[in-house]
Amino acid sequence: MDKFVIEGGRRLCGRVKVSGAKNGSLALMPATILAPGTYHLANTPNLRDVWTMSRLITCLGAFCELNDNELFIDSRELNSYEAPYEHVKNMRASFYVLGPLLARFGKARVSLPGGCAWGPRPVDLHIKGMERLGAEITLENGYVVASARNGKLTGARINLEISSVGATGNILMAATLAKGRTLISNAATEPEITALARFLMKMGAKIDGIGTAILEIEGVDELHPADEITIPDRIEAATFLIAAAATGGNIELDDCNPYHLTSVIAILEEAGCVLDVNSNSISLEATAIKPVDITTAIYPGIPTDIQPQWTALMTKANGNAKVADPIYKDRFKHIPELVRLGANIDVIEHTAFVRGGEALSGATVMSSDLRAGAAMVIAALMAEGTSEVLRIYHIDRGYEEFEKKLTGIGANIKRVKTDLI
Ligand code: UD1
Repeated sequence: MDKFVIEGGRRLCGRVKVSGAKNGSLALMPATILAPGTYHLANTPNLRDVWTMSRLITCLGAFCELNDNELFIDSRELNSYEAPYEHVKNMRASFYVLGPLLARFGKARVSLPGGCAWGPRPVDLHIKGMERLGAEITLENGYVVASARNGKLTGARINLEISSVGATGNILMAATLAKGRTLISNAATEPEITALARFLMKMGAKIDGIGTAILEIEGVDELHPADEITIPDRIEAATFLIAAAATGGNIELDDCNPYHLTSVIAILEEAGCVLDVNSNSISLEATAIKPVDITTAIYPGIPTDIQPQWTALMTKANGNAKVADPIYKDRFKHIPELVRLGANIDVIEHTAFVRGGEALSGATVMSSDLRAGAAMVIAALMAEGTSEVLRIYHIDRGYEEFEKKLTGIGANIKRVKTDLI
């Protein structure tokens, strides 16, 4: 097991290259199940979650190889429609294979994902969507067992009660090969879904309304392989901007898409940072941090995936801030760890109340999930003295070369083996 040892108190200054989006890759990869053939997915981040998805697709019979951020997938021999528990349990995005398997084979057997660190994360909308497309679904021994009537899905009108990223992606992929037209209303408009829709179009799918909350899909008989470049990781970009703001730093992010970050840029400006935004780069110069209340929302609102990092930043503000996360109401496992570093935060009715201006001091803390881990690193970078961040396997799921990138802009952070878990 690894941990980070971080010496706090250094300003982060310099340039950082943003990697390909984890959630972008995790949406593109299952789409390769839909059409047998070979695919090159460029700008794929080298991350644990990408390896998990590669292992899952490999266990279905495909070949996956990731070299220098180029992912090669050969799905010609993919012949299994069963996604076993061992590959689904650690990563909810594995459930993305349900739609493509059903569409390609007319049947699928996919393990139900488990809960996650911040509470239950149901997949009812994915299942309802498949049922609307004509799949018969039973739950057997922890598996979702699905089969399309007469072996083929049928287009349908599907309203998503909640604008779910995963359900939109799953249903969208399934609908590309369904008979007839599918309308998904209240569809997610997150950039990773828009990118998936564009990739499916390259593969021969017929989709209207891309980037809007109503997707109209005209099913086709077959799709063909295509190549794609994964979009930049907006959450990684936001994490580095927040880390720079938290350390009084001055950084420039390259290879990002500022258009995907408008809400984050706005709240950083509100917090007093000076930002210069260009077509694919953003620079940030920190000043004294002002308190900014946030409430997470679906895109283009403030992403839930930056909530823990923002909470860490607000401990430095010269006033009090409220942080509410209605997307994941119980996503506050990082608060007790921030408190161990000296933060003054209460969670009342799903909202964190941060009293800013308390100086943090080094301590041993734990990552409870990926973004909570990033928040711990940011807090440790702000804290006086040495901190240890445990359970960094969570961070390795979603940040490519995190400590290397941070070291490159002046952080004192080392990866060390530990027996502590
Ligand atoms: C995706 C992202 C994750 C991000 C989240 C919200 C990937 C791989 N993961 O997760 O990083 O935090 O979007 O932006 O892209 N819900 C249901 N029933 C369902 C599905 C979802 O009630 O069947 C609820 C969830 O509990 C949550 C909300 O809908 O409250 C949004 O979740 P969703 O957009 O589905 O998140 P994921 O796709 O799992």
